[in-house]
Amino acid sequence: MTAEPSDPAPFAWTRKHLLGLEELSREEITAILDTAEAFSEVSNRSRKKVPALQGRIVFNLFFENSTRTRTSFSLAAKRLSADVQDFSANVSSISKGETFIDTAKNIEAMGCDVMVVRHPTPGAPHLLSQHVQSSIINAGDGAHEHPTQGLLDLMTIRRAKGSFEGLTVALLGDIAHSRVARSNIWGLLKLGAKVILCGPPTLVPRSMERLGCEVAYHLDEILPRCDVVNVLRIQFERQQRGLFPSVGEYSQFYMMTRERVRKAKDDLLILAPGPINRGVELTPEVADGDHSAILDQVHNGLAVRMAVLYFLSGKNPDAE
Ligand code: CP
Repeated sequence: MTAEPSDPAPFAWTRKHLLGLEELSREEITAILDTAEAFSEVSNRSRKKVPALQGRIVFNLFFENSTRTRTSFSLAAKRLSADVQDFSANVSSISKGETFIDTAKNIEAMGCDVMVVRHPTPGAPHLLSQHVQSSIINAGDGAHEHPTQGLLDLMTIRRAKGSFEGLTVALLGDIAHSRVARSNIWGLLKLGAKVILCGPPTLVPRSMERLGCEVAYHLDEILPRCDVVNVLRIQFERQQRGLFPSVGEYSQFYMMTRERVRKAKDDLLILAPGPINRGVELTPEVADGDHSAILDQVHNGLAVRMAVLYFLSGKNPDAE
């Protein structure tokens, strides 16, 4: 790695798109994390900008709401000196009947290099990658994957714990409807962590054991073994029907509370991808407490997205 973060990655990257962590190798994931570490130094400078993507155009195509991911990608692209344009489906000509693919092709006709795509339908970014020439980054597709969230979670864990070997990480809550869970599972297993999926049986399919995870339904039983707990939001918007009796009952058995943290390892790391529901998945004291790395995750997301944009920017002429 050179001293200049505007050109930090000797890794031979060959992918054109980032659609999920399922298809990435351990080496590719590690290269993104290492490059993110190099780019995170840029945030400490008085002039927070490098010329790596000068002349490139990045479009944020968001068909679902976002606070963190969209602003983080915008800022990451600007720090790399790219031109950035936000596109919001709810104020677009989609309301007049224009299709998803036609919309993307029109945007590409304006000269787009990278499209960052969030969509409520699983596979929507994959579909787009077959119809446009731009690089596609999946910024969350339904309940399928959210690869940059998975990567920023990995960066936050690696920074706090040093490595993944021997770590036990629990993903807690609505695993069935969580794209963050899937990206975490692929990334954590590839890097050598043990993964426990914990929540009510209706939200944690036993079949996910086939991926190589432990499935557990009693948080208090597994918590003493955990080094990291990633608290996932209940995805009410993706559930077809009530999958547990009440929010109160869910919180009684699965909310991270101060009492539960006291019974866990002293150095327990608590993550949550956000948005968080205080008093449902975790209490305000836990969300804002010493074990919480929630805002570190957001901070690290910027560097991770700089690294991903850098690798997919087309700087490598051999990229397929
Ligand atoms: N974690 C995450 O994806 O947040 P946003 O929905 O605000 O982008």
